[in-house]
Amino acid sequence: MPRPTLRTELCDRLGIEYPVILAGMGPVAGVGAPVATAELAAAVSNAGGLGVLGGVAYTADALRAEIEKVRSLTDKPFGVDLLLSPNFLVPRGRTGSRTEKSAAKKERPAIKLPSAHVAAVRKIAEELQIEWLQAPPTPTGPGTSWIPEGQSYAGAQMEVVIEQEVPVFASGLGSPAPFSEVLKKHGVHIISLVGTVRAARQVAEGGADFVVAQGTEAGGHTGRIGTMALLPQVMDAVAPVPTIAAGGIASGRALAGAIAMGAVGGWVGTAFLVSEEANQPDLQKQRIIDAAAEDTIVTRLYSGKTMRNIKNPLIEAWEASGLHALPMGVQGLLIRDLQYSIEQAGRHELLMNAAGQTAGMLNERRPAKEILEEMVAEAAEVLSDGLASRVVAAV
Ligand SMILES: Cc1cc2nc3c(=O)[nH]c(=O)nc-3n(C[C@H](O)[C@H](O)[C@H](O)COP(=O)(O)O)c2cc1C
Repeated sequence: MPRPTLRTELCDRLGIEYPVILAGMGPVAGVGAPVATAELAAAVSNAGGLGVLGGVAYTADALRAEIEKVRSLTDKPFGVDLLLSPNFLVPRGRTGSRTEKSAAKKERPAIKLPSAHVAAVRKIAEELQIEWLQAPPTPTGPGTSWIPEGQSYAGAQMEVVIEQEVPVFASGLGSPAPFSEVLKKHGVHIISLVGTVRAARQVAEGGADFVVAQGTEAGGHTGRIGTMALLPQVMDAVAPVPTIAAGGIASGRALAGAIAMGAVGGWVGTAFLVSEEANQPDLQKQRIIDAAAEDTIVTRLYSGKTMRNIKNPLIEAWEASGLHALPMGVQGLLIRDLQYSIEQAGRHELLMNAAGQTAGMLNERRPAKEILEEMVAEAAEVLSDGLASRVVAAV
């Protein structure tokens, strides 16, 4: 069988064969490393799409090593995804002399969690019969010692993206503006994800070369507007900057639909969660395969921001508690011990499993190459003969 042809402006500008991008998915389900590691990113790039590493949880050294690993597995273009949320852009306090130490302490006091929240989370643990354990400190997050003084978490990661001359940078949250000039100087293409028209304008003004309009159907952090409503509005708002569609693309039909609407490609997450190469425990892949379209829920439990997950009794207990989530970064601290306790207790069915509404149409684990090739072949068919004959038949 000859390889199908499906080419858009995205392919020409990024030097890829097919207009399909692997979403740069970060860690889920208690796994320290992201879902989209070098193996998955390279598999998608080798199959003709653009593989994107989920870089958010890596230290600078770990990110460098993972980028080198991608390069050892493919000679095709690839990308790195980071989050540019405000808490990831705070410079780390200087801690040299004693005076500096106390000044830094004053600047950034230890976070005190609200006692009502702490008590409520412990009560939820008790109700779910989870023994409470204290999590060991994490070596990676904002404020940890690997970040050079005066440098932010995202800034330190970004230095590696630039030093390694990564072909594509994707920002999952926030505007690329603080980094866009230096990225462009190094020839790095910038892709920015948004869930609203307002954010789309901001990232386009902030230097994004492509805007990803991500509809609420998506797994992970997500907004409230559906892909079909969001996509044309974002396109109109940011033109001539091209728009990529995301949220709900797990088939060639959906990809073709997005291209027919004017998108230059699809940014795909959930469909690749059940790929052989995805860094997800088997149980979590199976939970996605078993889920129906209505088995996901949007919750602020895990990060303080709205995130779509496969439902579980922990999310349901949190939602029923009526608690307001704390800001991003602080909410993560609130549930750190709880997540650790769940993991230690082996109650993996209660762990976070970010996935989108297309979970309902995923029935098996497959190599990423097969997932991508099937999607592309179906989209090419729909956009050529299939579409013409259906339109004619309808008339
Ligand atoms: C498990 C998981 C982890 C994710 N982590 C990130 C991330 O770290 N950075 C990011 O930009 N987007 C992240 N996302 C969102 C995806 O980039 C993407 O927008 C979304 O998966 C697209 O919709 P779909 O799931 O319907 O394909 C994540 C999504 C999932 C499912």
